[in-house]
Amino acid sequence: MITWQGGKRLLPMTAALGLILAGCGREDLSVLRPQGPAAESSFDLMKLSITIMIAVLLIVFSIAAYVLVKFRRKPGRREIPVQVEGNFKLEVVWTVIPLILVVILAVPTVKAVFAAGNDHADDPDAVKVKVTGHQYWWEFEYTDYGVKTAQDLVIPAGKDIAFELRTADVLHSFWVPSLSGKIDTNPDGTVNRFSFSAPNEGVYRGKCAELCGPSHGFMEFKVKSVSEAEFEQWLASMKAPAVLPEDPQLAETFRSACLRCHAVGDQGLAVGPDLTGFGSRESVAGILLNDDTGADGAPILENIQTWLRDPESVKPGNTMPDPKADLGLTDAEIDGIAEYLAGYTLE
Ligand code: CUA
Repeated sequence: MITWQGGKRLLPMTAALGLILAGCGREDLSVLRPQGPAAESSFDLMKLSITIMIAVLLIVFSIAAYVLVKFRRKPGRREIPVQVEGNFKLEVVWTVIPLILVVILAVPTVKAVFAAGNDHADDPDAVKVKVTGHQYWWEFEYTDYGVKTAQDLVIPAGKDIAFELRTADVLHSFWVPSLSGKIDTNPDGTVNRFSFSAPNEGVYRGKCAELCGPSHGFMEFKVKSVSEAEFEQWLASMKAPAVLPEDPQLAETFRSACLRCHAVGDQGLAVGPDLTGFGSRESVAGILLNDDTGADGAPILENIQTWLRDPESVKPGNTMPDPKADLGLTDAEIDGIAEYLAGYTLE
């Protein structure tokens, strides 16, 4: 039993827990603020089941309270009351009511599950995106357009996006809470498919939702829903010839140190994240948010410098060689590359 003294000790803990849980409510990372039809149908199911649960709770507790008061032992009464069991009517009532509730829950749930199974793989109007999970970043390939990018998934608003998901290493899970449910990327080679759309333009945060290593918590990405015209423009500028650092010496350093794993435009190897138009990205390494005002992150140049000076401190266990220790880059070269990448923006 909790005494008042014990309760007093619990109070600060409860308050702290409340604060921590309040931190989970990041606006663009919430299933409770659905921004697309797939997320809305899940949210509707949640509302339906919670409504039923609240109704059952209220009715059962009211009956329990009524029975407690009405049939409590009266003063002076000593004999054992009449014992009743096996009331046929009651037994039927409490068997049939839960059955009806299960049916009410099951019908829309099964409908939503089948609707979610429409992966739009054969839909000529859908935009096809091949997603590959890597420790700890996401690769997006627009197969119909010959465009590859990383971390920022740019999509046209309102269009169905047909995803095809794989992993390059371990099990990850692709999740944009405000747009859709989760889907795994399986190491056994199976390809998973699903689809969602974002009717409103905006930026939505995505997460890896399966423990995949020390930097699992930092395996974020963004979904940028833009107008059809902006999407076409983005595709065109992604396909434009690669921009390299203006200074020939820096360009050579960039080529020999960075383009061994990364690509810009048609140059380099896309083993690591593609860097085309890096200056237009929402974040660096998926987790250092770019914000010129500094209110919700830092300016992109600062973020690139933070990353390049010590990638391990930002994302422990990542596979990028340390630019200084492993690749032998000088501070001046690192700053030069950071400035070049920050300035490499798309139209
Ligand atoms: Cu990838 Cu967690």
